[in-house]
Amino acid sequence: MNDPRPTELVPLDEPAGRDRWLLTHHSNQYIVWRHDDQLLVTAAMCPHKALPLLEGVIRRGAIVCPEHWYAFELGTGRCRASLAAAQQYELTHYPVEYVDGVAHARLPVGQPMTLVERLRAHARGAL
Ligand code: FES
Repeated sequence: MNDPRPTELVPLDEPAGRDRWLLTHHSNQYIVWRHDDQLLVTAAMCPHKALPLLEGVIRRGAIVCPEHWYAFELGTGRCRASLAAAQQYELTHYPVEYVDGVAHARLPVGQPMTLVERLRAHARGAL
Protein backbone atom coordinates (compact mmCIF):
# COMPACT_ATOMS: atom_id res chain seq x y z
CA MET A 1 0.00 0.00 0.00
CA ASN A 2 1.41 3.36 -0.99
CA ASP A 3 -0.60 5.59 1.31
CA PRO A 4 0.77 7.32 4.42
CA ARG A 5 -2.61 7.70 6.14
CA PRO A 6 -3.25 5.75 9.36
CA THR A 7 -4.92 2.39 8.82
CA GLU A 8 -7.35 0.11 10.55
CA LEU A 9 -8.47 -3.46 10.11
CA VAL A 10 -11.86 -3.87 8.47
CA PRO A 11 -13.59 -7.26 8.43
CA LEU A 12 -14.34 -8.58 4.96
CA ASP A 13 -17.74 -10.03 4.27
CA GLU A 14 -17.46 -12.99 1.97
CA PRO A 15 -20.68 -13.23 -0.05
CA ALA A 16 -21.22 -16.79 -1.21
CA GLY A 17 -20.74 -17.41 -4.90
CA ARG A 18 -19.14 -14.05 -5.68
CA ASP A 19 -15.62 -13.67 -7.06
CA ARG A 20 -15.57 -9.89 -6.43
CA TRP A 21 -17.57 -7.30 -4.60
CA LEU A 22 -17.44 -3.67 -3.58
CA LEU A 23 -16.46 -2.65 -0.07
CA THR A 24 -17.14 0.87 1.21
CA HIS A 25 -15.16 2.21 4.15
CA HIS A 26 -15.00 5.88 5.23
CA SER A 27 -16.74 6.80 1.96
CA ASN A 28 -13.95 5.16 -0.05
CA GLN A 29 -14.69 2.20 -2.30
CA TYR A 30 -12.54 -0.87 -2.76
CA ILE A 31 -12.90 -4.14 -4.61
CA VAL A 32 -12.44 -7.44 -2.83
CA TRP A 33 -11.38 -10.14 -5.30
CA ARG A 34 -11.51 -13.86 -4.59
CA HIS A 35 -8.83 -15.56 -6.67
CA ASP A 36 -7.27 -18.99 -6.19
CA ASP A 37 -8.86 -19.24 -2.72
CA GLN A 38 -7.25 -15.98 -1.66
CA LEU A 39 -8.75 -12.57 -1.06
CA LEU A 40 -7.20 -9.45 -2.59
CA VAL A 41 -8.27 -5.89 -1.94
CA THR A 42 -7.63 -3.12 -4.44
CA ALA A 43 -8.79 0.36 -5.22
CA ALA A 44 -12.16 0.33 -6.96
CA MET A 45 -11.10 2.69 -9.73
CA CYS A 46 -8.49 2.11 -12.40
CA PRO A 47 -5.40 4.30 -11.98
CA HIS A 48 -5.41 5.06 -15.72
CA LYS A 49 -8.59 7.11 -16.14
CA ALA A 50 -10.30 6.53 -12.78
CA LEU A 51 -12.97 4.31 -14.33
CA PRO A 52 -14.57 1.40 -12.44
CA LEU A 53 -12.59 -1.84 -12.30
CA LEU A 54 -15.39 -4.03 -10.95
CA GLU A 55 -16.10 -5.63 -14.34
CA GLY A 56 -12.42 -6.35 -14.92
CA VAL A 57 -11.03 -9.86 -15.09
CA ILE A 58 -8.09 -11.62 -13.51
CA ARG A 59 -6.00 -13.16 -16.23
CA ARG A 60 -2.46 -14.57 -16.13
CA GLY A 61 -1.64 -13.05 -12.77
CA ALA A 62 -3.04 -9.60 -13.42
CA ILE A 63 -6.25 -7.63 -13.04
CA VAL A 64 -7.26 -6.46 -16.50
CA CYS A 65 -9.26 -3.24 -16.69
CA PRO A 66 -12.41 -3.55 -18.82
CA GLU A 67 -11.96 -0.09 -20.32
CA HIS A 68 -8.57 0.00 -22.08
CA TRP A 69 -7.27 -3.45 -21.12
CA TYR A 70 -4.30 -2.35 -19.09
CA ALA A 71 -3.19 -5.21 -16.85
CA PHE A 72 -2.08 -4.63 -13.25
CA GLU A 73 -0.03 -7.35 -11.59
CA LEU A 74 -1.58 -9.11 -8.62
CA GLY A 75 0.30 -8.21 -5.47
CA THR A 76 2.30 -5.26 -6.79
CA GLY A 77 -0.30 -3.44 -8.90
CA ARG A 78 2.39 -2.60 -11.46
CA CYS A 79 1.02 -1.92 -14.94
CA ARG A 80 2.25 -4.37 -17.56
CA ALA A 81 1.60 -2.09 -20.54
CA SER A 82 4.41 -1.88 -23.06
CA LEU A 83 3.96 1.87 -23.48
CA ALA A 84 6.39 3.66 -21.17
CA ALA A 85 3.77 6.29 -20.36
CA ALA A 86 1.36 3.61 -19.18
CA GLN A 87 3.91 1.92 -16.93
CA GLN A 88 3.55 4.82 -14.49
CA TYR A 89 0.12 3.57 -13.47
CA GLU A 90 -0.10 1.40 -10.39
CA LEU A 91 -3.22 -0.18 -8.95
CA THR A 92 -3.22 0.24 -5.18
CA HIS A 93 -3.45 -3.01 -3.22
CA TYR A 94 -4.33 -3.24 0.46
CA PRO A 95 -3.06 -5.98 2.77
CA VAL A 96 -5.38 -8.78 3.85
CA GLU A 97 -4.81 -10.10 7.36
CA TYR A 98 -6.59 -12.83 9.29
CA VAL A 99 -7.81 -12.22 12.84
CA ASP A 100 -9.22 -15.31 14.56
CA GLY A 101 -9.71 -16.86 11.15
CA VAL A 102 -11.66 -13.90 9.78
CA ALA A 103 -10.26 -12.01 6.79
CA HIS A 104 -9.73 -8.29 7.29
CA ALA A 105 -8.37 -5.60 5.01
CA ARG A 106 -5.96 -3.01 6.33
CA LEU A 107 -7.51 0.17 4.96
CA PRO A 108 -6.67 3.84 5.34
CA VAL A 109 -8.72 5.94 7.70
CA GLY A 110 -10.30 9.07 6.30
CA GLN A 111 -10.69 10.59 2.89
CA PRO A 112 -8.24 10.06 0.04
CA MET A 113 -5.49 12.63 -0.19
CA THR A 114 -5.87 15.48 -2.62
CA LEU A 115 -3.28 15.89 -5.36
CA VAL A 116 -1.62 18.69 -3.37
CA GLU A 117 -1.45 16.49 -0.26
CA ARG A 118 0.07 13.67 -2.31
CA LEU A 119 2.67 15.99 -3.83
CA ARG A 120 3.63 17.32 -0.39
CA ALA A 121 3.86 13.80 1.02
CA HIS A 122 5.99 12.78 -1.95
CA ALA A 123 8.29 15.77 -1.39
CA ARG A 124 8.71 14.69 2.26
CA GLY A 125 9.59 11.21 1.10
CA ALA A 126 6.46 9.74 2.70
CA LEU A 127 5.30 8.19 -0.58
S1 FES B 1 -9.41 3.22 -17.44
FE1 FES B 1 -8.49 1.33 -16.96
S2 FES B 1 -7.09 1.00 -18.55
FE2 FES B 1 -7.98 2.92 -19.00
